[in-house]
Amino acid sequence: MYIASDIPAILRHTREVTFLESRQMAVVTAGGVQFSDLDGAPVNHTTVHIDWNPTAAEKGAYRHFMQKEIFEQGRSLTDTLRSRLDFTNHAVMLESLQLPPARARSLEKVTIVACGTSYYAGLVGKYYLERLARLPVEVDYASEFRYRSPIVRPDHLVVAISQSGETVDTLAALEEARDQGAVTAAIVNVVGSQAARVTDGHIYMQAGPEIGVASTKAFTASVTDLFLLALYLGQCRGLLDPETRATLIRDLTTLPGLAGELLDRAAHGTRYHDLAERFHTYHNFLYLGRGINYPVAREGALKLKEISYIHAEGYPAGEMKHGPIALVDASMPTVVIAPRDHVYDKMISQIEQVKARGGLVLAVANEDDEIIRTKADFVLPIPPINELLTPILAVMPLQIFAYEMAVRRGADVDQPRNLAKSVTVE
Ligand code: G6P
Repeated sequence: MYIASDIPAILRHTREVTFLESRQMAVVTAGGVQFSDLDGAPVNHTTVHIDWNPTAAEKGAYRHFMQKEIFEQGRSLTDTLRSRLDFTNHAVMLESLQLPPARARSLEKVTIVACGTSYYAGLVGKYYLERLARLPVEVDYASEFRYRSPIVRPDHLVVAISQSGETVDTLAALEEARDQGAVTAAIVNVVGSQAARVTDGHIYMQAGPEIGVASTKAFTASVTDLFLLALYLGQCRGLLDPETRATLIRDLTTLPGLAGELLDRAAHGTRYHDLAERFHTYHNFLYLGRGINYPVAREGALKLKEISYIHAEGYPAGEMKHGPIALVDASMPTVVIAPRDHVYDKMISQIEQVKARGGLVLAVANEDDEIIRTKADFVLPIPPINELLTPILAVMPLQIFAYEMAVRRGADVDQPRNLAKSVTVE
């Protein structure tokens, strides 16, 4: 028997795992194991089979886990979609969510609670749920939610997003939601983790073990799951006709292939290496996005902060003139997320404003966009895709950029200073 605080630590030895609840203990002896509460009264326990391949928790040919996790996103997205799409009825199947159509129809509001990268995934989810399921959505930092007096009712769905399923604030927020009678769900990566156990239903991310402290593939998997959730709720609530669903599902199925191509090209070229060479000495970066890509700006800035220790701020582009524009000069590069979507023209004008003030612009843009090449100083290309799905591709160049910057600066990419993979205490 092995005792560990995280699954990857023991994956090489066993895939049968038992989780301890709060205030429980396990006494392991040569003769076996006994589970009890802290007073010694025996408790029941179940063993969960972990469906992760032990090699998935190894670096293989990669230099860092984060690098591996970035470049396996084509595959993790395939796994995320596997067996969740019904191509005959153009429908999404989310059985583990335990939310039958009648219950889904009775919902009046969705609240998303999460921390860190998972919170930014939740911000993308707001766009999906409003657009496809026509539900009002609030996205809250779990650490704030738990200490406010949030208004939660039995006809509200509270969704926690958590890679680890063990983040203390997210679990506390879920407890608050449960106490107030809400329907609860978790979008979670680690099978059998607390968030999955304490909620009414869950969606597993299927991203495989994520070991690098800075979250990457869990972000794209959770955004994809939020898209599936919004599609599911929209379909249950009779808001999406079969033709619309068929189109959305078809677009979704192109995602893993397009991600794979983007990542392949990045891995075989020197673009990101060259950018890191050019930019690794800068002290401040501004990231701008608008609409569904505003959260991507925040996530891109977080990645740079976490592993390169460079100050970076992610901002909604429309708010630029209310403050950040005062900071723009040649010493603060601006990263602009500008795929060809319905706010594209506005993003182009943002680029022009930064350039007019002597700033440098790196633009995440469609690879066939000739206009942006004449406007921005550097382009980080992504393939064109349905506008709703752009965040999932647009974040990848930002992950690679942050990774290359950290490597160039000699930082410890997988274990950045002062950060932990899961924050299980306050
Ligand atoms: C820590 C990690 C982040 C992660 C956050 C939330 O801060 O360093 O990468 O996004 O916790 O973690 P969770 O497991 O709840 O998604």
